[in-house]
Amino acid sequence: MNLLNHVAIIMDGNGRWGLRYKNSRNAGHKAGLNTVEKIIKLTIKNNIKYLTLYAFSTENWKRPKKEVNYLFNLLENFLKNRIEDLNSQKIKLKIIGTKSFTPKLNKLLRLSEKKTSKNKKLQINLALNYGSKSEIMNALKILNKNKEKVNEKNFSKYLQTKDVPDPDLLIRTGNTKRLSNFLLWQIAYSEIFFEKKLWPDFNEKDYNKIIKGFKKVKRNFGNI
Ligand code: IPE
Ligand code: IPE
Ligand code: MG
Repeated sequence: MNLLNHVAIIMDGNGRWGLRYKNSRNAGHKAGLNTVEKIIKLTIKNNIKYLTLYAFSTENWKRPKKEVNYLFNLLENFLKNRIEDLNSQKIKLKIIGTKSFTPKLNKLLRLSEKKTSKNKKLQINLALNYGSKSEIMNALKILNKNKEKVNEKNFSKYLQTKDVPDPDLLIRTGNTKRLSNFLLWQIAYSEIFFEKKLWPDFNEKDYNKIIKGFKKVKRNFGNI
């Protein structure tokens, strides 16, 4: 049985769900947040130590302003209302991606990270304005500037995921088989599960089924 230490999720399908059931993409984002809450609880229940959630990519800025604003309002309200509770559940929140939002949101993100920084039950890496290519370029630039030797160890320490083990399991919901610029370096040996269901419909049974499937996979890492 494989140990499961880190789950990464591309939470895709909110917009389609919202259009289908409520005639509004934004309603899908709201429903998606309920799934986030459920998945956090289940991740703790399964004793998994790291959960990385793709919430907003560097490419998602291309979306209409109304949708982008809605998403960031949702995030702001979520943090304001839920950070105390996350903290009391001993959850550590870490933002990966570039924090270049409004000064108010940047501050809220920093405070949320600081408040929860000592927690050890579960680390949630929330990928916001995150893009893997930009993360990799940034690490290379630092290596170059510092005139450090280019090797895996030096390179990894300038990734946003330094101190976080690579994901064992990557899940993408929403019936789409692509990586959309997510953790390209870190998922070199992750087991990838593509889920047909849209993110707001993803439930405990689906999550448990994937975890069960993951545990049975023969992971080779190049060996036989
Ligand atoms: C993913 O759902 C969530 C974000 C990108 C914020 P989408 O909004 O991409 O949903 P679909 O893929 O359009 O259905
Ligand atoms: C990936 O979903 C980003 C997030 C889930 C936050 P997208 O819906 O943005 O991906 P593409 O554009 O369809 O590849
Ligand atoms: Mg999508």
